[in-house]
Amino acid sequence: MPHIEATPAPAVVGPATRRATRPTSKLPQSLIDSAQISAKEPFNASKHLNYQPPSKIYTMKEIGLEGQGISANAVTAPFQLFTEEAIKQMRAEIFSKPVLEECQYMSDFVKNTIRGMGPARAPFICDAWHSPEVLSKISEVAGIDLIPVMDYEIAAINISINDETVTIMDNKSDDDLPAFAWHRDSYPFVCVTMLSDCTGMTGGETALKTASGDVMKVRGPAMGTAVVMQRRYIEHQALKAVGGRERISMVTSFRARSPLVRDETVLTGVRPISNLSELYTQYTEYRLEVLEERIRDRLKQERKRDQAKRPFDIDDVKGFLTEQIQFLESMVEELVE
Ligand SMILES: [Fe+2]
Repeated sequence: MPHIEATPAPAVVGPATRRATRPTSKLPQSLIDSAQISAKEPFNASKHLNYQPPSKIYTMKEIGLEGQGISANAVTAPFQLFTEEAIKQMRAEIFSKPVLEECQYMSDFVKNTIRGMGPARAPFICDAWHSPEVLSKISEVAGIDLIPVMDYEIAAINISINDETVTIMDNKSDDDLPAFAWHRDSYPFVCVTMLSDCTGMTGGETALKTASGDVMKVRGPAMGTAVVMQRRYIEHQALKAVGGRERISMVTSFRARSPLVRDETVLTGVRPISNLSELYTQYTEYRLEVLEERIRDRLKQERKRDQAKRPFDIDDVKGFLTEQIQFLESMVEELVE
């Protein structure tokens, strides 16, 4: 039974349900100016990828969650992923005029976030995350073949600035929520890539709750490095980062490449900070594609079975149909006004 929708992950808890407002607080002009570059380049894996394997990959078993989630791997130590030049190209796209005008959001919980840049406004970033070389490295450390959930979630940028105008207390993002905010994310896997120099910064770790209730801290990424984590299935919170001038992290969300792997994506955490029409369009498209592939796969199996003169298996077919009903019911629940 390759795809099981029967045991949904616990609901996403925590912040997420409040309304977002656009536009958000103004970013310092110096930050925008410093991100400008003289020449934009297309993404080129041989030039922009600088992968070094993580020193450690924690397994679900190690944190007491064996058998849960879609992979045996839980979370990686920070590992080098992109070159400095790649980070410059990414920052130039993030702090470009169309992105700042159209993709900046804030909510009660996210002071400054940039989402839904898409391939027209952020071709380098989108190409990077669709590149087979990058995906193969991410899949390697995740322990399962992954692809971005959808273009809308290819890069959510969380920005914290520590200067006179923005106090630390204001800098709440998904990555530095207060201590009570244990939660699970909306998407199966995420990769958090650090786009700023964290020299002089302390904190910024991710705290994980193990099955026994113990808290385990995992080091956060530094400039150019990334952390991959199965955040839909592990209760976690990001600890506050203190010191340093700025903290700019990019969160990329992934799902299994195989449509036969269960997909328990919810939109709870992202609805308040998204263009709902774009989010729902892409969510509906990929979920229907998954269903389409599952039905094709099932048809093939059924035809093969019949040709082999094996009898119809009522329980098996009913099991498949029930899973797909739950898959569709979950979509009905997620598409809210
Ligand atoms: Fe999270």
